Amino acid sequence: MSWYSLPLLRAAWCLFFVLSASAQTTKPPSAPIPTQIPGQNAILMGVAWYPEQWPESRWEEDLRLMEAADLKVVRIAEFAWSRMGPSEGHYDFDWLERAINLAAKHHIVSVLGTPTATPPAWLTQKYPDVLRMEPDGQRVTHGNRTHASASSPRYREFCRRIAEQMATRFGHNPNVVGWQIDNEYGYARMSYDDVTRQQFQDWLKAKYKTLDNLNTHWATSYWSQTYDNWREIPIPVGGHNPGLMLDWKHFGTDTWTSYQQNQIDVIRKHAESRQFITGNFMGFFDGFDHYTITQPLTFASWDDYVGTGHVDPAYNGLSHDLTRGFKRMNFWVMETQPGAVNWSSLNNFLNRGEARAMAWQAVGHGADDVNYWQWRSALNGQEEIHGVLVGPDGTPVPFYDEAAQTAHEFAKAESSFRDTQPLSEVALLYSYDSHWAIQFQKHTEKYDDVALLKIYYQALRQISQSVDVVSAYAPVDAYKLVAAPSLNVLPKDLADHLLDYVRNGGHLVLGPRSGMKDEFNSLLPQRQPGFLVDALGARVEQYYALEKDVPVSGLWGSGEASIWAEQLKSQAPGDEVLLKYGKSNGWLDDQPAVITRAYGKGRITYIGAVLDDKLMAAATEWMTNTSGVTPVLGPVPDGIEVSRRIGPGKQVFVLINYSQEDRRVTLPHSMNLVLDGKNSNTLDLAPYGVAVALDNR
Ligand code: GLA
Repeated sequence: MSWYSLPLLRAAWCLFFVLSASAQTTKPPSAPIPTQIPGQNAILMGVAWYPEQWPESRWEEDLRLMEAADLKVVRIAEFAWSRMGPSEGHYDFDWLERAINLAAKHHIVSVLGTPTATPPAWLTQKYPDVLRMEPDGQRVTHGNRTHASASSPRYREFCRRIAEQMATRFGHNPNVVGWQIDNEYGYARMSYDDVTRQQFQDWLKAKYKTLDNLNTHWATSYWSQTYDNWREIPIPVGGHNPGLMLDWKHFGTDTWTSYQQNQIDVIRKHAESRQFITGNFMGFFDGFDHYTITQPLTFASWDDYVGTGHVDPAYNGLSHDLTRGFKRMNFWVMETQPGAVNWSSLNNFLNRGEARAMAWQAVGHGADDVNYWQWRSALNGQEEIHGVLVGPDGTPVPFYDEAAQTAHEFAKAESSFRDTQPLSEVALLYSYDSHWAIQFQKHTEKYDDVALLKIYYQALRQISQSVDVVSAYAPVDAYKLVAAPSLNVLPKDLADHLLDYVRNGGHLVLGPRSGMKDEFNSLLPQRQPGFLVDALGARVEQYYALEKDVPVSGLWGSGEASIWAEQLKSQAPGDEVLLKYGKSNGWLDDQPAVITRAYGKGRITYIGAVLDDKLMAAATEWMTNTSGVTPVLGPVPDGIEVSRRIGPGKQVFVLINYSQEDRRVTLPHSMNLVLDGKNSNTLDLAPYGVAVALDNR
């Protein structure tokens, strides 16, 4: 549309959409925040502590050092099965109770982990069928962790017993604030044994009812895949029927969810309701659908590790926001790295101040607790040389001081964060089904839906300074702008949900590969974006995995598309073509790359290509302008990350300088700079510098 090149008309067009954006508001939280423990500081710092690895005479000194550092939480016992249950039917919790009580004497509360990631040798040797089977048919041997099968009924029975014994003993202990079930489930894969395969087949039968139905949805007449008997259906190993592969993931989600529920049930039966129950997740780990598995938990937690290199604030922020989005509430960072890990290709140490910046970033994004893994080097075991706060000699390593500084700051700033949580006007939609569907058939190795999510996140956050990442099925009415970068699996119910949002005034932006498949991973019998074609008034004629970049130009300026390009076609009045491809493979030449259309009281926009950074920035400016999205704080210099949490009558900002230079930030008005203990409207941040600005106005 050539008139877009006229700046005045462009401005008028944007203004029109700002004014016509529906009056959606965001409200501060009214209910108590379950991640904040009554009677404890609103934000906490702690460590993973393994008293079972040390003589009891040492505990007092450990806890004294923790208390001196303002560490207020220990997560304990999650690998201590052989100590708590030394033989079948025998339990010993006295030592653990003494550890919990001693910690309490030092004003440290305990989170108890159930030890089911580490079944003891007596169990796996007497009942070898509990051991997980690898895809090649080999049972894993004892000696590592996560060696048991999550689907083994026998293993689950043992898990239930140890969790029940723990809950009976500690479910009323005033110093136990909560529970972590297992540790990082799914870290090892599902088991590929006969028991699991039969469970999968039974699960399919319960889902599809008849083989005809299954055969139809999986289109099994292709390559003679038709099944005549449920027992013929394999566990997929390697490339397989896409429907079967997606169902294996769904089955995995249900398996881990019921594995978790088995323990939740007995803990809830015996524990006081004030004790939370969480799981310890791993960011973008994709072994199961986290939106499903976190539902029965009080809140979600995750392990925030950098590994090699240095923190990427955008990816780390995105991972925090992903975790916050699992239950759409604050979360805990159950583990983070004290400088270095031991498991990466290069276990470099984070720079001085970097871990502190990471801890504050976590808080800014909604974490109410950050724990370092681990307290002290174990003298042997697979993680002997992992980062710690206390060395093998029992005295603090240099990093202890940085952890202590951060924890003292947490203690100083905690009241500012009480009853606060991040609140955004913009949501990014994430869908495990879409992620898996694309992973199974990438079409180009270069297409990485999480990387594209990060591109959208970074660009949107640059402007709005706050982005939620939520399930595609989450309620979205409160958002002014909703973007779904790769919503590949878009069944009718999801399309209806999103269309309601648009009809009511929302702006939905879809990225490439959207609306191609149904919930069975079958192609929709329409072109992309499937059930949204009519609302968009346009469709994808053809998609192209790109060998080289393609020029694009239009309303957002000129630049390149890379990796993926879709040739769009307008089909209805009211469509506006915002970008077109330039000369490339002949098919794309002069064809639409981006189309937008008013629909109901809102708008739907389809971006059919991966745009370069400059175009993405312009696209995001347009999206946020047309949707009336405003930054939570206002302009800040390059390299400064702003996060905001809102509570009744207050908002609190965390500002972090990720640039390598000193920066001065001017606030819109004077605020309480909590860490400095003064009011000001300017603040100076050195590299990795952190400020907490409380605004009570
Ligand atoms: C994971 C585990 C911990 C420990 C750390 C080491 O997150 O949960 O038990 O192994 O990694 O980085």
